[in-house]
Amino acid sequence: MTDPIRVAVTGAAGNIGYALIFRIANGDLFGPDQPVILQLLEIPPAMDALEGVAMELEDCAFPLLTQTVLTDEPDVAFASANWALLVGARPRAAGMERKDLLSANGPIFVSQGRAINDNVADDARIVVVGNPANTNCLIAMRNAPDVPAERFTAMTRLDHNRAQSQLAQKTGRPLHAVTNVTIWGNHSATQYPDAFHAQIDGQPAPAVVGDDSWIKETFIPTVQKRGAEVIAARGASSAASAANACINHVQSWHAGAAEGDWVSMGVPSTGEYHSPTGVIFSYPVTIRDGVYRIVQGLELNDFDREKIAATGAELLAERAAIADSLP
Ligand code: NAD
Ligand code: LMR
Repeated sequence: MTDPIRVAVTGAAGNIGYALIFRIANGDLFGPDQPVILQLLEIPPAMDALEGVAMELEDCAFPLLTQTVLTDEPDVAFASANWALLVGARPRAAGMERKDLLSANGPIFVSQGRAINDNVADDARIVVVGNPANTNCLIAMRNAPDVPAERFTAMTRLDHNRAQSQLAQKTGRPLHAVTNVTIWGNHSATQYPDAFHAQIDGQPAPAVVGDDSWIKETFIPTVQKRGAEVIAARGASSAASAANACINHVQSWHAGAAEGDWVSMGVPSTGEYHSPTGVIFSYPVTIRDGVYRIVQGLELNDFDREKIAATGAELLAERAAIADSLP
């Protein structure tokens, strides 16, 4: 029998957690032959709710779920974890930007970064979902100096999926016809959802859309502000679509992105495409054998460069605001 993969999930009793862990237990991350162990972390007041979730996991009788660990201790949750999905954090309310959560959520990623450093498996890969995801990821990464920096990623896959979906709807083409979409920068309202380098049925997306003003004035702000729009409509932030994007992020990183296509991931920046260094910046990446590579050689025009500069400046400001949390 194949050894189980250990998946730590923080905030497992929350809304995203509830939409996520049943899919992991069902085999959605690693396929129908790969057993998993779930290591679920919550804060003490949510442990009763977590016990209830664990009862439901048992009642699903998932054949691939070999063990479920419930804990309020990060050292236990991350012990020998092969994957750490850092979801547990406060969501924003209507009228807030995600960066307004930094003072409430940043400290979580200091202590969890340290626990990751001391406990995870040698091959561990980390995905930060809790907002503001890029800067929380930076905090966790810098507090885990013994884990290679490239193992830390922030989730911008929800924005990527939103962009793909908007383009498919606009052009009346199926989703799989829309490829090479990119989210540049921060998971925030300054992100740059890039349709100009995307393709539809293998053709440049702008030519198929045939309306650059729609791309600039409707598509970009729709994707940038979609999270707030969901909060206004639902009275709670996106949960099922966020869990789905987290599944997609791990699937891509584990099994690779489709040939010729790429996906968006927030990864440690080293200055590509005039992005600032030393932040977690979302780029187009290809993935092979579990290793992502930033797509090279895309030509940027003034519009692209201006958008990338704006989102980069916001990430630098977020980093400055939490400088005390970065050893
Ligand atoms: P939620 O409030 O429903 O659940 C959060 C859970 O985290 C709660 O159960 C809480 O007890 C737990 N928690 C809080 N502090 C913790 C800690 N230190 N350790 C472990 N668990 C802890 O919120 P949600 O809707 O599940 O959203 C979770 C986070 O994900 C929010 O910050 C939200 O803004 C973010 N989010 C990100 C994206 C993205 O695309 N990156 C998308 C949607 C939501
Ligand atoms: C989203 O994009 O839906 C999440 O980041 C939640 C939010 O605060 O917008």
